[in-house]
Amino acid sequence: MSTTLLSPQLQEGSDGASIQQQITSMIDDLIAQLPNPEQLTDEERRRILARYTAVLEGNFIYWMTATYLATHSEEARAILIDNLMEEVRDSHPVMLRKFTMEAHAFPSSEDVLAVHDTMTKMRLFLGKLQGVQSLLTMAFFEGLIQKFMPFLAALAAARGSAEMEYTDVHGVCDIAHSEGLFRAVSLENSINPISADANLFEGVEILRDVFLSVMQSPETELVAA
Ligand SMILES: [Fe+2]
Repeated sequence: MSTTLLSPQLQEGSDGASIQQQITSMIDDLIAQLPNPEQLTDEERRRILARYTAVLEGNFIYWMTATYLATHSEEARAILIDNLMEEVRDSHPVMLRKFTMEAHAFPSSEDVLAVHDTMTKMRLFLGKLQGVQSLLTMAFFEGLIQKFMPFLAALAAARGSAEMEYTDVHGVCDIAHSEGLFRAVSLENSINPISADANLFEGVEILRDVFLSVMQSPETELVAA
């Protein structure tokens, strides 16, 4: 499922814009492969909503907090605090729970176990506390989520739900989050640089696999570029 990407390093003379461009094209590649929600069965729609919720509801704030703990740059930390403040103050996990319950797609143990392996890898990656790689991973995810929202909303609507606060909020505000996080990657690298032999995309690849495990089924499987 996972492929090794070219991993340009954020060393002196590197081009942060080209890294952002690579992340954007990875995101666009995944989004372009999404199936037509109308052509999925109701169970396939339910499964994607449930796995997405199993991944995000209890983990997004944890991932962002782990990234904060890995980050040395005060300016980069301030960007993460802004993200965390919004998540907690506006209770994004409550929004997501409402969204998934109204779509009758609350995750079963089977749904949770379907993302267990990739989620475990993600937790172990974040446990390495690598500032630059963790920040880039969160930048990737914020961008991916924002472009994924119309698809997610369409799945819920097809299951008869009109509760769209979660998808409405995340289709818009995460654009700013994503830009801020790309800035944070550069800020962090200037004081806590990634080592020359490290894979800058380590966490991005793992989190892409988490996303693929949300989508995975014979009918809906996506492939990594
Ligand atoms: Fe959120």
